[in-house]
Amino acid sequence: MYNSHTELSALSPLYRKLVLESQRIAARFRVPEFYRQFRVQYSISKKLFFAHPLVVYVKNLVRPRLVDSFGHGLDHSTKVGIDAATIVLLEAEKYANVSDRLERLMVLGEIAGLLHDIHRGKENHAEKGAESARKILKPFPLKKREVNWISCAISNHEAFRVPSPCPLPWGQLLSDALYDADKFRWGPDNFTKTVWFMVNYKSIPLGEVVEKFPWGINGILKIKETFRTSIGQQFGPDIIDVGVEIGKEIYRYLLGEY
Ligand SMILES: [Fe+2]
Ligand SMILES: [Fe+2]
Repeated sequence: MYNSHTELSALSPLYRKLVLESQRIAARFRVPEFYRQFRVQYSISKKLFFAHPLVVYVKNLVRPRLVDSFGHGLDHSTKVGIDAATIVLLEAEKYANVSDRLERLMVLGEIAGLLHDIHRGKENHAEKGAESARKILKPFPLKKREVNWISCAISNHEAFRVPSPCPLPWGQLLSDALYDADKFRWGPDNFTKTVWFMVNYKSIPLGEVVEKFPWGINGILKIKETFRTSIGQQFGPDIIDVGVEIGKEIYRYLLGEY
C-alpha cells in the first residue's frame, strides 16, 4: 500500500484522493501469481536491495535525480530493481555454474532498476539513462563488462522498440529482466499510482482522463505480448490482467462519481 507522503504531496487534492480511492479499490483484488508463487525469491531480492552496500550507495546517489512527481520516482525504481533481481534469480537456475555469481547479477539488476529512469520525462530517456549510468558507475568497484551490461539493459527498457542484443548470456538476462520488471508496473501499479501522477504532472483535467480511460486500458493490454524472459512471459500477462481488472473497476467508480 501507499507509504510515501512526500510523493503524495506532489498531487492536487483531487488526484491525491483518487490515488487513495484507487488503492482502496485495488485492495479488493487478488495479488498477482508472481508475487504469491515467488515470495521466497522476492524476499531474498528485497533483502539484498536494502542491505548490499553498492545498491544502497546507488540508491542514495540517484534519490535526488528521480522525478517523484511524474510517478517514476524512487518507489518505481525500487520496485523495478527488486523485481528485476527476482527474475534474475529465477531465470539463472537454468544456467549451470551460476551460484558463485548469482548474487552479483542480482545486485547488477537492482542497480539497473535504480538507474533506468533517471532521465524519465526527457526525449529518448532510455538512451540518455544508459549514457549517464556509464558515467555514474565509472568510479564504482564494478568490472567494465558489468557496467556495459547495466548500460545495455537500460538502453533496451522502452516498450514497443526492438532491443539491441547485449553481450554474453548474462548481459542479455539482465536486459530482459529489467524490461520485464519495468513492464510489471503496467499492472496494478499503473492504475493505483502512475496514471494519477502523470495526469497531475501534465495538468490533464479529470474529464479528459475519464474520457480516455478505456483507450488507456486497451493500450496497456498490448504489453502482454512483449515480455522477454520466460518468467516474464509466464507471469507478466497475469500481472497486467489484474491491473486491467482494477482499472475497469476504477473506471466504473469514476463514471459513478464524476
Ligand atoms: Fe523508462
Ligand atoms: Fe521505468
